[in-house]
Amino acid sequence: MSELIRLESIVKRFDDTVVLNGIDLSVAENEFVTLLGPSGCGKTTTLRIIGGFEKPDEGRVFFDGKDITDMPANQRHINTVFQNYALFPHMNVGENIAFSMRVRNKPEQYIKDKIKYALKLVNLDGFENRRIDQLSGGQQQRIAMARAIVNEPRVLLLDEPLGALDLKLRQEMQYELVRLKKELGITFLYITHDQEEALTMSDKVVVMNEGYIQQEGTPEQIYDEPVNAFVADFIGDSNILDGQMIAERVVRIDGVDYPCIDGTEQGFPPGRPVDVVIRPEDIDIMPYGQGQFNGTIISKLFIGVHYEMLVQSENGEIEWLLQNYDQHDVGEKIGMKVDPENIQIMHKPKSEAESARELDL
Ligand SMILES: Nc1ncnc2c1ncn2[C@@H]1O[C@H](COP(=O)(O)OP(=O)(O)O)[C@@H](O)[C@H]1O
Ligand SMILES: [Mg+2]
Repeated sequence: MSELIRLESIVKRFDDTVVLNGIDLSVAENEFVTLLGPSGCGKTTTLRIIGGFEKPDEGRVFFDGKDITDMPANQRHINTVFQNYALFPHMNVGENIAFSMRVRNKPEQYIKDKIKYALKLVNLDGFENRRIDQLSGGQQQRIAMARAIVNEPRVLLLDEPLGALDLKLRQEMQYELVRLKKELGITFLYITHDQEEALTMSDKVVVMNEGYIQQEGTPEQIYDEPVNAFVADFIGDSNILDGQMIAERVVRIDGVDYPCIDGTEQGFPPGRPVDVVIRPEDIDIMPYGQGQFNGTIISKLFIGVHYEMLVQSENGEIEWLLQNYDQHDVGEKIGMKVDPENIQIMHKPKSEAESARELDL
């Protein structure tokens, strides 16, 4: 896949606050890339810089190999769909979609055909003459998409476009967007603070926090191999635990030694204090006394397909979060086991690691 967008060392300040701290990002042609992070981490600012609505203080923006840092927004082959879709309320659906084509002096027949094509793509065949206030939120969102599509952009920038919709509609629209992207064969750069949305739709997820990119990778890489505790915590529920490497490929957590697959080669030699991530679905429940450690179930919640449980470990202070398809009762004593490949070892933040290293094994 050839590279379509590249950000090089983008720095952006508002007043004296740095909101982007040297962002490097590459988006390939036809890729579905999602910027994921908590509110205020700099997602919208990144998108606005790519769209040309904001100038970076440092760094360059490239499009198809060309430096477009100083190119005005309307000359970029990029279209944006914002969260508040900003449809014109006094125009009907067809007029809304036609607007930008009229501005570009496209012929009437071309405009008519395009409207029909776009409405078909977003599953709103025949809606040309509807008034905007007759549409549901989901339908308005589709019209906003249709309006962006007719300009034949090479990239669609989508800033939390589903943010205003309720959960069920949002999930429906997620499938719609993936289908739409496939049919259009264009590049999507998507923003969300919703980790599930990011994992569901994207080819590549870029996790941001406080103006820095924390990690980028496929949804599987981000979920299975978070590089630090922030990413692990942000992407789904996790057990994030204090650990210490006590032998080659053995980590001690809460007084119990677990074989794992990371060692010196991966930068985790014996003696090193580490953070450990264990996903709740990766803890196997065994009969009491037969696992690697024991505990008592202190709470249980049925959340649709599986049960979520908190288990108080017998070894120490830790409450483990478990997910399991089988029903177990509060108060039940169980054994637990974690396979080596499900133990994710991570570096501690530097300052923490140094003070932790002074502790004895
Ligand atoms: N025009 C602006 N003037 C001053 N501060 C801004 C402006 N736009 C954004 N910010 C600040 O920059 C930071 C990042 O904002 P933004 O990119 O909108 O984050 P996100 O989209 O991830 O929620 C926030 O602290 C926000 O308050
Ligand atoms: Mg935003």
